[in-house]
Amino acid sequence: MLKRLHDISDRRKVTIDFEGMQLEVPAGETVSAAVLAAETDYTRTSAISGVHRGPYCQMGVCFECLMEIDGVPNSQACMIEVRHGMTVRRQHGARGVSDEASV
Ligand code: FES
Repeated sequence: MLKRLHDISDRRKVTIDFEGMQLEVPAGETVSAAVLAAETDYTRTSAISGVHRGPYCQMGVCFECLMEIDGVPNSQACMIEVRHGMTVRRQHGARGVSDEASV
C-alpha cells in the first residue's frame, strides 16, 4: 500500500484513462504516481518472462515504469506529468523503438 507524503486533496484534478478506467488525479502528478495511487497491481510485463513489473525509482533511472502513453510505447511514466484526457496503457513485453502509435 502506497500513500502520498503530503496532502494534495486541494489540488486541481484532471481525468486520465488508465486501461479503460477514468481516474481523477491531481494535476502536476506524474503518470506513474497517479497509477500507483490508484492501487494498480502492475504497469508493464517483462520482455522475456512476462512477469508483472512496476515503477521503482520514480526518477528516470530504472526504466521499470515503461508504459504506453497516448499511443506512444516505451514512455517513462515517472518522467511525464498527467494531462487531462491522457490515455495510459500497460506495456506488454518488449516494444520496438520505432513502433508506431497505432501499434
Ligand atoms: S520508475 Fe524508474 S525510470 Fe521510471
